[in-house]
Amino acid sequence: MTDVLMQARQIGKSYQDGKVTTPVLHDINFDLKVAEMLAVVGSSGSGKSTLMHILGLLDRPDSGELICNGTNLLDLNRKQAAQYRNAQLGFVYQFHHLLSEFSALENVCMPLLIGGEQPQRAKQRAGDILERVGLAHRLSHRPAELSGGERQRVAIARAVVNEPKLVLADEPTGNLDQTTGAEVFALLLELNQKLNTSFVIVTHDLQLATQMDRTLTLQHGQLIS
Ligand SMILES: Nc1ncnc2c1ncn2[C@@H]1O[C@H](COP(=O)(O)OP(=O)(O)O)[C@@H](O)[C@H]1O
Ligand SMILES: [Mg+2]
Repeated sequence: MTDVLMQARQIGKSYQDGKVTTPVLHDINFDLKVAEMLAVVGSSGSGKSTLMHILGLLDRPDSGELICNGTNLLDLNRKQAAQYRNAQLGFVYQFHHLLSEFSALENVCMPLLIGGEQPQRAKQRAGDILERVGLAHRLSHRPAELSGGERQRVAIARAVVNEPKLVLADEPTGNLDQTTGAEVFALLLELNQKLNTSFVIVTHDLQLATQMDRTLTLQHGQLIS
């Protein structure tokens, strides 16, 4: 099945603090298709961010597999995992996590430079994608000189500049007013269609979730249908 990008199989995760074990995720199973837009919803503390960290290889589950192209991503060593993250994944957070000392253009260049792109070519590509998200006139602005919606657009440009297969977004509109949030979300939908990228997006906004292909609902660390 070539149209499946990733398969999560029996993912389980607990946090251990001294003698106290907090189970967070239990028996998580789902397939993510190429170019699919998957919403993840659930009340606060249900395990959404933990799941996103696991999908992004930023945290390890205690059990389970993440199958991609016949490989269990959880078997990758640190270097391979870092390479996979840089080349195949993009991340967008609730708070933009842009580097404050750098311009919008420099922030978007960063993943390209880390991936070994030539500086001139990196600037070109970063400029192109910033134009695409409507920020051609803000290239030299630092994050503090941008509005909340503009910062999220820069963060989104940074997430997709490497043309990743998958973008993971944890409440990307959670810190924006409703109108700006809807605009940023429309941008994600547009990029999904134009770039053929899969998106997994955590949101509290059920209205936004209904605009996506499919919704996973987490309750106490389990998927309910
Ligand atoms: N590093 C950690 N150590 C201990 N418990 C944690 C840690 N991270 C998250 N948790 C717990 O795991 C549960 C799920 O957290 P999280 O995935 O952040 O939920 P959500 O994103 O859905 O709000 C919460 O009960 C939280 O307290
Ligand atoms: Mg969270």
